[in-house]
Amino acid sequence: MLNIRPATEQDRDAIWRIFHEVVAAGDTYPFDPKMSREDALAYWFGTDNHTYVAELDRLNRSSSKPPIVGSYTLHPNQSGGGAHVANAAFIVAKVARGKGIGRAMGEHCLNEARRLGFRAMQFNFVVSTNDSAVKLWRSLGMKIVGTLPGAFRHPEKGYVDVYVMFQSFENA
Ligand SMILES: CC(C)(COP(=O)(O)OP(=O)(O)OC[C@H]1O[C@@H](n2cnc3c(N)ncnc32)[C@H](O)[C@@H]1OP(=O)(O)O)[C@@H](O)C(=O)NCCC(=O)NCCS
Repeated sequence: MLNIRPATEQDRDAIWRIFHEVVAAGDTYPFDPKMSREDALAYWFGTDNHTYVAELDRLNRSSSKPPIVGSYTLHPNQSGGGAHVANAAFIVAKVARGKGIGRAMGEHCLNEARRLGFRAMQFNFVVSTNDSAVKLWRSLGMKIVGTLPGAFRHPEKGYVDVYVMFQSFENA
């Protein structure tokens, strides 16, 4: 069982471990693979951010602290006149991928965004070769509204396209 809840100070180490694993791989996010813990956590827990963690249910394991297997952060995509559109970023620990955690966080995130009064969700930088993410976001109603040609330098595939994905919550 998976529990998704707001992140606390105590979750910082676990989030950093997953974030570092994702960013060091260098194939999904346009961050410096050597980004420091301090910078990473400052980004993940930014002032306007709503940050959540996904933890496995205590019943499934022997030790006392439920393991954190993923996290997401939700915030306004822009300020001022663009602040009614949300943006979010997701990370799942490598060992825990393909088990529905990304989907559960994605659904939770879209519900949270609606609950917080955002009118739409925009993902600014979905690397086109990130098959699981593209498939997952599309299945959750996100549409590719733009393609940025060669906007990401993939460590193995070279320059690949990036998608801008969008979903309006109005009339949905
Ligand atoms: C993208 C990410 C969040 C998905 O998390 P996850 O827990 O593995 O996702 P899920 O287990 O819910 O799987 C999502 C879907 O992707 C599919 N999928 C998994 N690997 C795939 C692959 N290589 N090709 C195509 N689809 C794939 C799954 O089948 C699943 O679809 P289904 O629910 O219809 O079966 C996770 O892989 C991750 O953290 N990646 C690194 C960071 C990242 O890319 N973040 C998103 C940036 S836009």
